[in-house]
Amino acid sequence: MTTPALVPGLAGIPAAESAISYIDGKKGLLSYRGFPIELLAEQSSFEEVAWLLLYGELPTRDELESFQNALVEARTLSARMLDVLRSLPGKGHPMNALQASMAALGMFSRSREYRDPKQQDEAIVRILGATPVLIAAFERFRSGEDLCEPKPELSTAANFLWMLTGSEPDALSARVLDAALILHADHTMNASTFTARVVGSTEADPFTVTASAIGSLTGPLHGGANERVLTMLEEIQGDEDVGEWIEARLAAKRKIMGFGHRVYSVKDPRAVILQGLCAQLFEEQGRTPLYDLAVQLEEVMVKRLGDKGIYPNVDFYSGIVYSKLGIPTDTFTPIFAIARVAGWLAHWREQMADNKIFRPTQIYVGKHDQSYVPIAKR
Ligand code: CMC
Repeated sequence: MTTPALVPGLAGIPAAESAISYIDGKKGLLSYRGFPIELLAEQSSFEEVAWLLLYGELPTRDELESFQNALVEARTLSARMLDVLRSLPGKGHPMNALQASMAALGMFSRSREYRDPKQQDEAIVRILGATPVLIAAFERFRSGEDLCEPKPELSTAANFLWMLTGSEPDALSARVLDAALILHADHTMNASTFTARVVGSTEADPFTVTASAIGSLTGPLHGGANERVLTMLEEIQGDEDVGEWIEARLAAKRKIMGFGHRVYSVKDPRAVILQGLCAQLFEEQGRTPLYDLAVQLEEVMVKRLGDKGIYPNVDFYSGIVYSKLGIPTDTFTPIFAIARVAGWLAHWREQMADNKIFRPTQIYVGKHDQSYVPIAKR
């Protein structure tokens, strides 16, 4: 059998059959289980979308209610788990804190038989419900604040803002974060989802699967880009000419954060929706100069690199939304994780339902038949 040619980054190579989400990268379309993302962001809730991704259908009212109740219960962390969070270095990055605390959360779980659908469902609820709390608790502890007790009457988005900042969000802020979570919940075979499927294929437990996917999401080419977009905009702010800034950056062979995508050759549909959410927030709470700068940057970039199919991706406008909601810049990527946990676990379930361990091949380019020289003679 001849070895197939290497495809760097596995670009265009299918790694699984999946019925969870679908992208048409030329038309700029994204759907979850056949529902367009625009419709879900407008009419659904993060909890409903998580169910849809996980179980394939929209929930009935009873199903949604008991799912929401289970998520609320999963917001409570044990005193020992809180001790773990308190002991993490406060100067470390919140994504590393999330990865470490997710692995620790798994150590407190008593389930071990994850081929059993009941134990799968219990772990899914625990991970989905606890993730925002792990992030909020780390933020509170590193700022020298006490944990805010979760409020059962609040949605995942609203409760997260409450536990993070210590003040209950207004209805618009909660709705905007809810929509942002919907937009980030799944996105076909991206790096962190592939990680989740690879780790899941070894039959590792779902906490380990999620912790591994969190690690993959931290990178600046993936989820870590949203944080860097904001730092980049702040860096440009003092500059006179955005065009010159872009040219200097491209000449230095550096990427413009929040632009480009392996699958889309047009503007990411999630970026379009996030811009709409920015507009809603600005109308009620005032405009931010960073947004005008971002729009200007987009205009220059489209003229400069649009013909190469490089347009804004989801990370370009999300940071502006999050900073308007009062979220610290290094906590933007953890918010991506709150949402993407739903997608990772849906892919884990799908992988477990018809599993084959991932074990690709390689093209060996090293030496053969070397002669060994004993250490004394080297
Ligand atoms: N700025 C400048 N040039 C770019 C950019 C960019 N943001 N993105 C791609 N290019 C150029 C790249 O230099 C290359 O040019 P050439 O063919 O002349 O060498 C060409 O476009 C193809 O780029 P690539 O990096 O080989 O494409 P890829 O499919 O391997 O990577 C990407 C996709 C998202 C990693 C890349 O576009 C990138 O690094 N973007 C910046 C980081 C970013 O915003 N990441 C968030 C991605 S969306 C959300 C998520 O998945 O987390």
